[in-house]
Amino acid sequence: MFTGFRPSRLFLTLALTLFLPQALALAQPPVEPPPPECGPLLENQCQSCHYLPRVCSKLGKKSRRGWQATIRVMIRRGATISAEDQARLADCLAQSEPGIVAACKK
Ligand code: HEC
Repeated sequence: MFTGFRPSRLFLTLALTLFLPQALALAQPPVEPPPPECGPLLENQCQSCHYLPRVCSKLGKKSRRGWQATIRVMIRRGATISAEDQARLADCLAQSEPGIVAACKK
C-alpha cells in the first residue's frame, strides 16, 4: 500500500510553519513606550514662567487632584501641556517622584 504521502502530516507542517510565528508574535506582550520621565517633564513644562522652587516648595503638600488643579490653573495662565503630560506630571508631583526631587535639587 502506498503510504509515502500523508496529507495530514503535510497539513500539520504547513499549518505550523505558517501560523506558529504569528502565534508566537501574538504571545509577546505589546511593547508600550515608557512614560515620559518626570524630571525633564517638570523642567521643560514648568519653569518657563517661574523658577522651579515655586513648584518644589509645594511638593508633598498637594494630592494628585490638587496638582491637577494647579496644572489647570497654569494652563489658564498660558501653559501648553498635552493631556498625557498633564496626567503624568500630576502623578510625578503627587508622588514626589525621584526625578522631580532631583530636578528640584539642581
Ligand atoms: C504660562 C506660564 C506658566 C507655566 C508654564 C507654569 N506656571 Fe505655575 N504659575 C504661573 C503663574 C502666573 C503663577 C502665579 C504667580 C506666581 O505666584 O508666580 C504660578 C504659580 C505656580 C504655583 C504657586 C501657586 C500655587 O498654585 O500653589 C505653583 C505650585 C505652580 N505655579 C506650579 C506649576 C507647575 C507644576 C507647572 C508645570 C506644569 C507650572 N506651574 C507651569 C504661570 C505658569
